Amino acid sequence: MKVLTVGGGGREHAAVEALHRSGAEIYAVMKNANPGIIARSAGYMLCDEKDVAAVCAFAKENGVELAYVGPEAPLEVGIVDALEAEGIRCAAPTKAAARIETSKTFMRELVDKYGIEGNLGFAHFDNAGDAEEYLRGIDHEIVVKPVGLTGGKGVKVQGEHLHGMGDTMQYINEIFDQNIGGAGVILEERAVGEEFTQMVFVDGRNIVPMPLVQDHKRAYEGDVGPNTGGMGSYTDSDHLLPFITQGEREQAIAILQSIVDAMAEEGCPYRGTMYGQFMLTVNGPKIIEINARFGDPEAMNVLPILETGFTDICWMMATGTLSGEVRFSDKATVCKYVVPRGYGVKSESGHEIAVDEESIAKCGATVFYANVDQRDGVLVTGTSRSVGVIGMAPTLEEAERNCEAALEYVKCDAIAVRHDIGTRALVQRRVDHMRELRSA
Ligand code: AMP
Ligand code: GLY
Repeated sequence: MKVLTVGGGGREHAAVEALHRSGAEIYAVMKNANPGIIARSAGYMLCDEKDVAAVCAFAKENGVELAYVGPEAPLEVGIVDALEAEGIRCAAPTKAAARIETSKTFMRELVDKYGIEGNLGFAHFDNAGDAEEYLRGIDHEIVVKPVGLTGGKGVKVQGEHLHGMGDTMQYINEIFDQNIGGAGVILEERAVGEEFTQMVFVDGRNIVPMPLVQDHKRAYEGDVGPNTGGMGSYTDSDHLLPFITQGEREQAIAILQSIVDAMAEEGCPYRGTMYGQFMLTVNGPKIIEINARFGDPEAMNVLPILETGFTDICWMMATGTLSGEVRFSDKATVCKYVVPRGYGVKSESGHEIAVDEESIAKCGATVFYANVDQRDGVLVTGTSRSVGVIGMAPTLEEAERNCEAALEYVKCDAIAVRHDIGTRALVQRRVDHMRELRSA
């Protein structure tokens, strides 16, 4: 089957690899020349992924039947609506359905309206004065979020990034002055616990869960520093995480099913991968955000261990025929992103980067290219995350070791890696943190 893919990051390279493995003939659109995607494509076009007309023309020219869209930006401008109007099936949500991610207010209000578990206290503001008045009337810590898309970097948490009223108002003013996210501010109750990602495949009605993943948003080792798109992530061989029970996981899955039901009820049925980011608190999982796509890096953990054909899954999502028959191998995975030095604050880009894929494979690992570009036969880093290295093994410890061994085969003189991701010490800290919260 001829399949259009949109996006040129690590998540999209992982998706392209899974589509290719399951028999798809790939036609890729991306803004950077991702060498991993190009190697698997029958045809590709470099262009702005939000240029709906150009993407549709490319899809028609190549006679694709099915489309997979990786990033949220093209979803927000209605790429799926346009492709569907051309008769192309899409394993991704329409513009209306993508609001679950593109408007944080839409998501909170939907969850509220349908009485779905896991919501947090929230209030939406379209000016700084009202936000300040609200802040003076509450006595708990909050999180400040621009309502629209910010590439995972617009969220600031009181007690972590913001200390006191002065700091908080300064950031709120900045959001309005610079129009960050473009749609006002949402203030949310701060949830305390351990974060986890539950992604599901959705066909408009039915959902099928993927293994649980834990991402690491903070830029630096020890979970400090600014929020990033995600520095790395791990899964365990039992598809749970060491700090969460099966019952708690089922609560998270039930929340996602309720959201899918509510969206169908609202007349904007959801098709495609849905990403649930939760905080596991002592009162169960709370919704941090819902995304209209795979997580990045999380896609790089789950897609390499997907045993069912991803092309078939995409077709089933697109056509409303998803069945429970989706299998993942029982391996643990550890993904560490190699990022440009300074990433999270100010990236140093344009450095040559060399990746020895063959040696990486010999380590029990795999590599996905992300924000790198091929220029005159040389691979160079961009300003965002460069390559994801994923170790896979029967246990988490071995997967982490495989990942570290493989990282030796990525060479560049201006990169950074969070080596603590997936290590026994950091995972144990998560387990201890949850145990302390539960016993308090
Ligand atoms: P987001 O972009 O919404 O994923 O937020 C980035 C990070 O901010 C999350 O991974 C959390 O660590 C933190 N965060 C967001 N919302 C909340 C919340 N309501 N309570 C506590 N932490 C949050
Ligand atoms: N890993 C976070 C995200 O994809 O939004």
